[in-house]
Amino acid sequence: MTVKGIKGFSKLSKEGKTEWLIENYFDEPEKALQTLKGYWHSDASIQKLHDEFIENTLTNYYMPFGVAPNFLINGKMYCLPMAIEESSVVAAMAKAGNFWLERGGFKAEVISTKKIGHVHFVWRGKDSSNLRRFFDSIRQKFIDETNDITKNMRARGGGILDVELVDRSDLEPNYYQIKGSFETCDSMGANFINTILEKWSSILEKYISTTTLLSEEDRQIEVIMCILSNYTPECIVRAEVSCPVDMLTEGTDMSAEDFCENFVRAVHVAEIEPYRAVTHNKGIMNGVDSLIIATGNDFRAIEACVHAYASRSGTYKSLSHVEIKDGMFRFYIELPLSLGTVGGITSLHPMVKFSSELLGNPSARELMQIVAVAGLAQNFSALRSLTTTGIQKGHMKMHLLNILNQFEATQEEKVAIIDSFKDRIPSYQLALEEFCKLRGITVDEFVKKQ
Ligand code: MEV
Repeated sequence: MTVKGIKGFSKLSKEGKTEWLIENYFDEPEKALQTLKGYWHSDASIQKLHDEFIENTLTNYYMPFGVAPNFLINGKMYCLPMAIEESSVVAAMAKAGNFWLERGGFKAEVISTKKIGHVHFVWRGKDSSNLRRFFDSIRQKFIDETNDITKNMRARGGGILDVELVDRSDLEPNYYQIKGSFETCDSMGANFINTILEKWSSILEKYISTTTLLSEEDRQIEVIMCILSNYTPECIVRAEVSCPVDMLTEGTDMSAEDFCENFVRAVHVAEIEPYRAVTHNKGIMNGVDSLIIATGNDFRAIEACVHAYASRSGTYKSLSHVEIKDGMFRFYIELPLSLGTVGGITSLHPMVKFSSELLGNPSARELMQIVAVAGLAQNFSALRSLTTTGIQKGHMKMHLLNILNQFEATQEEKVAIIDSFKDRIPSYQLALEEFCKLRGITVDEFVKKQ
């Protein structure tokens, strides 16, 4: 199909947009329409809410929402809400929750909560000490002239922590920043920070154009942009688990020493080998993202930040660490997590409100701790499987249903095939063979029909 572009698409009604789309891109428009409509919410007011979250909404995109109970964090029991599509992640999380519940649970602590934003600008003067003198003379204006914007945040204990001039002209000719540090309490703070930065940009332009501290030539600036930074290396939470080494393999026939040796080596590999570190950290993000999405936070911001943080030494490294000392096993993680429990879609999305209530309506600080624990727990489960049974045993067991659904197996066929893998690890090929055997057809015949 050759599709012509369309002008004014966003102005069309939802029906108009849908019609244009399915007529132009689908061989079977009626089927495509049914797919879209099948995901509309039966409650028109909830559908309207979703329609208004973004532009050009046509329908909803579902993700499974599961829970992992039995998480003891700082002495309090939680059931973790998780929105994720990957088969084995919730099972792995639940396993870690149970495992550590019997060993004292998780401890977590918020280390810092500072957020950063910049007015990026160009100043072409020769002597930056003149610019600094001017900045110092108006520094207080950045605070005073944004008092109306910061009033509510100050009442909640937050606001502007600092405002500085930063000279980055060694990296890019004539490049400077007004760098702001902020405390945004229970909100992630993007709108608050960006509003202040845009105001700062106009304050800067207003005062520099009339200052007598700079020559007329040096009173020119060009603002490049005003934006918060999603890199938050000073918004840090730490989570850890620990127990006597002997307790690690209780109930198994494995020695605690062997387990520890493999586990410690696996973490060290992720500390020195970026190829492994990326996969190791991806496993951590399985836990982090599923909670971030369930609680309506910005997973793109968290992902970008966490990976930058993992590279802060100049080499991409593991986010988790392990220590064996005096017969104790200690496994811990430090994550930069800028989260919100107010603002954004937190008070709008029904499932986000549900997740929040499930967690006891936590503050942003409490949520940081819960999410860091989720990352650590997921990592623990992955490493435990990888260094003992191998990952495929648990993963393929969970993924088997997806494969059988792909074959459109009946409920009876599913039960029989799952049972046939009781004592062996499934794979796509083995599942296919088992399925065809049950249907009395050859694999070739089935594949040809697909
Ligand atoms: C799969 O989603 C995540 C793992 O690859 C993580 C890891 O290797 O540590 C199992």
